Amino acid sequence: MDKFVIEGPARLEGEVAVSGAKNAALPCLAATLLTAEAVRLTNLPQVADVRTMQKVLGHVGARVEAEPDTITVAVPEIVSADAPYELVKTMRASVLVLGPLLARAGSVRVSLPGGCAIGVRPIDFHLAAFRKLGAEVSLQHGYVEAKASRLRGADIVFETVTVTGTENAMLAATLADGTTRLVNAAREPEVADLARLLVEMGARIEGAGTDRIVIEGVQTLHGADHEVVPDRIEAGTYAIAAAATRGDVAVRLCRPEHLRALTTRLESIGAHVAPDGDVLRVRAEGTLPAQDVATAPYPGFPTDLQAQWTALATGLDGVSTITETIFENRFHHVAELVRMGAMIRLEGRWAIVEGCRLTGANVMASDLRASAALVIAGLTAEGPTTIERVYHLDRGYSRMEENLNALGASVRRVT
Ligand code: EPZ
Repeated sequence: MDKFVIEGPARLEGEVAVSGAKNAALPCLAATLLTAEAVRLTNLPQVADVRTMQKVLGHVGARVEAEPDTITVAVPEIVSADAPYELVKTMRASVLVLGPLLARAGSVRVSLPGGCAIGVRPIDFHLAAFRKLGAEVSLQHGYVEAKASRLRGADIVFETVTVTGTENAMLAATLADGTTRLVNAAREPEVADLARLLVEMGARIEGAGTDRIVIEGVQTLHGADHEVVPDRIEAGTYAIAAAATRGDVAVRLCRPEHLRALTTRLESIGAHVAPDGDVLRVRAEGTLPAQDVATAPYPGFPTDLQAQWTALATGLDGVSTITETIFENRFHHVAELVRMGAMIRLEGRWAIVEGCRLTGANVMASDLRASAALVIAGLTAEGPTTIERVYHLDRGYSRMEENLNALGASVRRVT
């Protein structure tokens, strides 16, 4: 039950290096189940969710050798093709083992992930894809059970863009008999990174990163070395914090081209944005005008930066309208920002934010990105802010307090 105590206001200045992407690391770790040979993943973020996925892999029978940002996984044999409730309830992304276990072991039993703070988040599109690939799928006692002697290639059209749904179908289709076409597939860089690893393992995949992915099934996959793509959401969080504190920050080891939806909006409020190779420099000063954003699947404005942008909007001049189109319940940070004096009105999927000065207060984190928003608000507020339950933050950000203190902030973790 760690807390953060932040002394505000602060002006961030300096450099920060981002880690590998959590949302690429998780499917890449799941992909290691597709082969009996060793797969070595580097540039992994040191975050709680990666450790949870390691536990899931260990439970299935994997040998996992972990170093700070590198993990080598070998699964000579699938000992038990299941992921129990105890593990899945701590991390929904555990469902990413469904596709690889079904493809490699021919049967799988995985706890159905319950809802989460940001929405109901069903996995019906995942299960529909497995049925299309010829699997028998049933729900028993809170578990998904799926089996197929060998999956068959198929055409799968996703009703709504789904990131892990696309990844699960792609993972399963790599070992299927024949060709699979994923239509209206997710285009996120994390999906493309997973496809890159699978191709390095011997899979035949074309079109990853577009809304139409074609997978030619193969008999077996082999070992590989893969460097996970940088975390665009972590990079975007620091870029927004730089603008919110009217600071000057160079975000290093990132891919600025993955953040265009954000950088165009930062430029439109008058921040200086300078991408240079794997560095994104963001500088801002003075009064910045309000700016609306609406979340959308990639390459649109990421829902995983919506809360952070809402925190920034509390310090912009005028009224910003934030529209959340992906998740039905992703405004938990609003009530906590209002505790800090923010002027925000919620109307269904809209948050209407009127700029004003925040004051420090005791607030509570509710989910990963909402906690990042509270940190940004604490950096801009007058006086101390205490954020409880920062374990939410630790799920997806490594060493945030050290990074912020190196940029001139005063953030203390109270254990
Ligand atoms: C991924 O979640 C990310 N998680 C999320 O990041 C991210 O917010 C989300 O994509 C959207 O970008 C990982 O990659 C591990 P979706 P995912 O399936 O795949 C509905 C973070 O903060 N849907 O693309 O679970 C769903 O309810 C996390 O790092 C169905 O109805 O999201 C949502 O409204 C949070 N049925 C929409 O589609 C399905 O079978 C998009 O969800 C699947 C999804």
